[in-house]
Amino acid sequence: MAESNQILSQSGSVYPAPLHVVERAWISPEAYHEMHKRSVTDPEGFWGELAEKELEFFQKWDKVREWNYPNYKWFLNAKMNITHNCLDRHVRDGRGDKIAFIYNNEKNEEEKISYAQLLTRVKKMANALQNLGLQKGDRVAFYMPLTLEQIVAILACARIGVVHTIIFAGFSANALRMRCEIAEAKVVFASTSTSRRGNDIDLMHVVNEAVEGLKCVQNVIVHVRKGDSYSFKSGQLDYQTLLESGSENHEAPALDAEDPLFILYTSGTTGKPKGVLHTQAGYNLFTHFSTRVSFDLHEEDIFWCTADTGWITGHSYIVYGPLSLGVTSVIVEGAPTFPNPGSWWALVEKYKVNVFYTAPTAVRLFMKLGAEWPNKYDLSSLRILGSVGEPINPEAWEWYYEAIGRKNVAVVDTWWQTETGGHMIVTMPSMDQKPGKAGLPFFGVDADVVDRQGNPVAPNAVGFLVVRQPWPSALRTCYGEPERFNNYWMEMKGFYYPGDFATKDEDGYITILGRADDVLNVSGHRIGTAEVESALVAHESIAEAAVIGKPHPIKGESIKAFVIAMNGVQVTDQLIQEVKDSVAKELGKLAQPDEIEFVEGLPKTRSGKIMRRVLKAKEMGTELGDTSTLED
Ligand code: WT7
Repeated sequence: MAESNQILSQSGSVYPAPLHVVERAWISPEAYHEMHKRSVTDPEGFWGELAEKELEFFQKWDKVREWNYPNYKWFLNAKMNITHNCLDRHVRDGRGDKIAFIYNNEKNEEEKISYAQLLTRVKKMANALQNLGLQKGDRVAFYMPLTLEQIVAILACARIGVVHTIIFAGFSANALRMRCEIAEAKVVFASTSTSRRGNDIDLMHVVNEAVEGLKCVQNVIVHVRKGDSYSFKSGQLDYQTLLESGSENHEAPALDAEDPLFILYTSGTTGKPKGVLHTQAGYNLFTHFSTRVSFDLHEEDIFWCTADTGWITGHSYIVYGPLSLGVTSVIVEGAPTFPNPGSWWALVEKYKVNVFYTAPTAVRLFMKLGAEWPNKYDLSSLRILGSVGEPINPEAWEWYYEAIGRKNVAVVDTWWQTETGGHMIVTMPSMDQKPGKAGLPFFGVDADVVDRQGNPVAPNAVGFLVVRQPWPSALRTCYGEPERFNNYWMEMKGFYYPGDFATKDEDGYITILGRADDVLNVSGHRIGTAEVESALVAHESIAEAAVIGKPHPIKGESIKAFVIAMNGVQVTDQLIQEVKDSVAKELGKLAQPDEIEFVEGLPKTRSGKIMRRVLKAKEMGTELGDTSTLED
């Protein structure tokens, strides 16, 4: 891990964007610099004009931005509905027959849905949810795989101002229960199963265990997958029957620009997930515009974002951004390398995907499997390859560019977070690309790299990434925990502090070096060390635990746990496996440690805080750094 103010060597190659990308790009390098400058010196003018051009409002705002540090609002008193911008206006304007989504899965089953069909289903579901008694502001949880049924239900909630909170359908029953409980979800949308690497995974046993005895949950709406049978329990409704019960007529109600749209739980430095809350208008505008310009999408383009709707990437770049823009997107339910390592490339060929957006962990996985797989397919439709979730190492970048992009694409890295709602640091398609460097600040993003005191560091020196002013899709609060929201703006006074180390080079390109806090990034998923530690000590044989991230060739980071056994416990391989399994049970498989090492003691400060940094340095064989606060 980098240390603050360390100067990193800055060798590295520069790849100019291919001419065919530059020629059609919405934003030229010159335009970028001019527009970016305006967007941070006159944010109200910049975003106000853009909102008028790109979105429709039922009633115009009184003021574009109000900022009472640390709180902010955008488009004050404007009335709108994000689903009107995502659906109704496209259908009204003659794009009803345009395909919104092409769905595919591991069995190569295909489903297409047009904007008009999607709107009709959303209207029916919106009516059905209202008939169930759901009202604006109520929370609805989701535990569904990536399906059209899920997207319909998400949009139906958004349309009536019901706040959705999607829980990735790989989380454990405990994790789902905790999130339903703290969000006080009235309804849970669930699916009976999903298929992953050819295995049918039963999801209802997780959901049933999660909601058992949970007072807030009144109904579970179950999407029974094709070929499944399910015996409904009391309070459970069939998705399809419910959908059919709703009328096709539904006017999008005028919601306030600042009405909550969704809560998405993400990991922080404590054991409890934070409920990041996003609102209607600012989020709509920012995701709409970034989808357009970061990916340089044009009317006929086919876009494929490989994320799951359980993460922010799916919210912003599968659902809201692409729909608001009116794009045709490919969505795929299932694993990237099943039935074979070429299945994704077969889909790129089949659907002539132009813009492809995935995570470095997937790129590294494909790299390991070899270029012979993508080489079997015609990938010439690809124009832009996006990356998100963690730093993309130059080797993976170059492989992506060559083996997938055939050296004829722009590789667009995008740094952002659940909290930021949309892209914050991007290499715009027309700009020079620097493998491993995320790029330049997006419009409205007043970003810099500073030292602890908040002073900008020298070029290429390590510092903390910060943002000086709010942007339209910045999180508005942490649901039910406003003090946790305040921390983002209080940790480094005067700035939004994302928690990442970074450098900035002479051209302003920002490189993200990884988290500066006790948060891990495993396969692009954010996991708090504290969450894993509390799951570990929940096991009866474990007295204390400390967790670190270790570099991993595919996952980016893997989890290693150091644990102290309870007195008298015999450490066996079986116990180690049992402890690993218990973490999977507590949190979900994605948080399961790869390694567990039993130790006699853990390095602590005199005030009793575990020094994970010391464990990590020992594990990696690097320098311990400052250990003056170490107790022993
Ligand atoms: C953290 C946010 C944004 C959607 C997926 C993750 C890391 C994200 C990049 C990137 C380097 C990245 C950061 C960030 N991260 N994208 N392009 N380059 N690091 O969202 O779960 O909220 O995690 O992911 O450390 O703080 P998230």
